[in-house]
Amino acid sequence: MARILITSALPYINGIKHLGNLVGSQLPADLFARYMRGRGNEVLFLCATDEHGTPAELAAAKAGKPVAEYCAELHEVQADIARRFGLSFDHFGRSSSPQNHRLTQHFAGVLAENGLIREVSEKQVYSRADGRFLPDRYIEGTCPNCGYDKARGDQCENCTKQLDPTDLIDPRSAISGSTDLEVRETKHLYLRQSALRDDLDKWIDTKTDWPILTTSIARKWLHDGDGLQDRGITRDLDWGIPVRKGDQDWPGMEGKVFYVWFDAPIEYIACAAEWAEATGNDWERWWRTDKGAGDVRYVQFMGKDNVPFHTLSFPTTLLGSGEPWKMVDHLKSFNYLNYDGGQFSTSQGRGVFMDQALDILPADYWRWWLLSHAPESSDSEFTWENFQQSVNKDLADVLGNFVSRITKFCRSKFGETVPDGGAYGAQEETLLSELTRRIRAYEGHMDAMEVRKSAQELRAIWVAGNEYLQSAAPWSTIKEDPDRAAMQVRLGLNLIRLYAVLSAPFIPAASAAMLGAMNTQDTGWPDDVADALSTLPAGHAFTVPDVLFAKITDEQREDWENRFSGVRS
Ligand code: 2FM
Ligand code: ZN
Repeated sequence: MARILITSALPYINGIKHLGNLVGSQLPADLFARYMRGRGNEVLFLCATDEHGTPAELAAAKAGKPVAEYCAELHEVQADIARRFGLSFDHFGRSSSPQNHRLTQHFAGVLAENGLIREVSEKQVYSRADGRFLPDRYIEGTCPNCGYDKARGDQCENCTKQLDPTDLIDPRSAISGSTDLEVRETKHLYLRQSALRDDLDKWIDTKTDWPILTTSIARKWLHDGDGLQDRGITRDLDWGIPVRKGDQDWPGMEGKVFYVWFDAPIEYIACAAEWAEATGNDWERWWRTDKGAGDVRYVQFMGKDNVPFHTLSFPTTLLGSGEPWKMVDHLKSFNYLNYDGGQFSTSQGRGVFMDQALDILPADYWRWWLLSHAPESSDSEFTWENFQQSVNKDLADVLGNFVSRITKFCRSKFGETVPDGGAYGAQEETLLSELTRRIRAYEGHMDAMEVRKSAQELRAIWVAGNEYLQSAAPWSTIKEDPDRAAMQVRLGLNLIRLYAVLSAPFIPAASAAMLGAMNTQDTGWPDDVADALSTLPAGHAFTVPDVLFAKITDEQREDWENRFSGVRS
């Protein structure tokens, strides 16, 4: 049994995430966590809300609430939606937790001791119109790297370059649009990422099995042009983790907080500490290689815009501490999901948001579509037509129909128990060898986190059962050879259990319904397919489940298409 630590990028606190956010981190992380648990491994799957920074402050101001209260509320909202989407976090934490305060201040302290933090007196943009310093995300302008005219002060969304606000050409306040900005002197801390460049470089070079998307982004920022730059890790804000050196004050840094991107990844560790405190577990066994984490495999999931922070900044924090922290073993990154000819956008309210999605259909419909169309090798696009097609074909016609036909046929001819009699013939042996081959391929893709290929293989496994049923045709066989029909039906009922087990990472609710109908809790993985298909013995009682997946009608599709064509109000 392996031990696997899985983290998903932490969703920002300010508002409900859209389906593009979901498919780029939390959902594939959940797929992997469920699969690894299903294979009998010990899994710790962590996620949390990313609560600091200006977006949280401004959203709270807009909602007319104190920021701490706003974050507490939104955390519950996000936790509830995550639960309803079937995201099986072992803990859904908060980056504002006391554990994260302590750890973030600890890291800053040891990094300073190791000479990896320098104090810089710098000029920062102050907006006279807004009466405040403008944090980098709230300054917009033209990217000096690619020329994109809506680049933010921390990062260009278009080319992913990490920026400092003063790099921007023609800067303006993103709050008021004012260009009446002045530059004022203030002191800040910088993390000397550049000092670890060679270590980071060597470390990335060992990651030969990482997606090209991940390593190419990391290499780009390590080697391109000006190379790896030091990062400011403090801000003039009220809301955040106060700047301290461990438990000591930091002279000159009074009233300042750590930059959200410094403390957010540290929450991956703090989240384990929160989980441990809540459950009486030991978190160091997952995070400290001197305390048992040496045999942990650590996998991170995120969208491509997060890659520089996870391949350069956070590793600098961990390596630079000189302490034996667990480093990421595999970093699975995703491209973007677009929405119907444009981009999903939180700021513009464009696309389908997680709560809206659940208002119209159960989570499994979305999970299936999103995962089977995950933007792995390139960006992908959500269209209502494609969604309708894939739900109707894959889920309703292939899987749902199989379950319904076999259970209803059995009920009408043999009653609601698994029938006895008959032995496998050539047709069944062919099916078994096809299933064996396909299940091994499915495992290979799932182990490698090849999400789309896994979905394709799973679908092929469902199709194989359907085709078997179609050609075995127990409804005809029963006339001449009732024993053989009984065997076919018994095999079919066992296939339902097998499908429930294999499909659970993708469609957990439907899988639970299938297991419920088959009246079994046996989720044993099919290491041997023939064994797996004799799990439900003759005489075992079952029930015919309700329709697993309803088809999406053209009317519904058009209605939703219109409803979601504008922006969310
Ligand atoms: O891009 C985002 O949504 C960030 N909130 C991700 C943070 S991931 C981690 F480092 F905390
Ligand atoms: Zn750019």
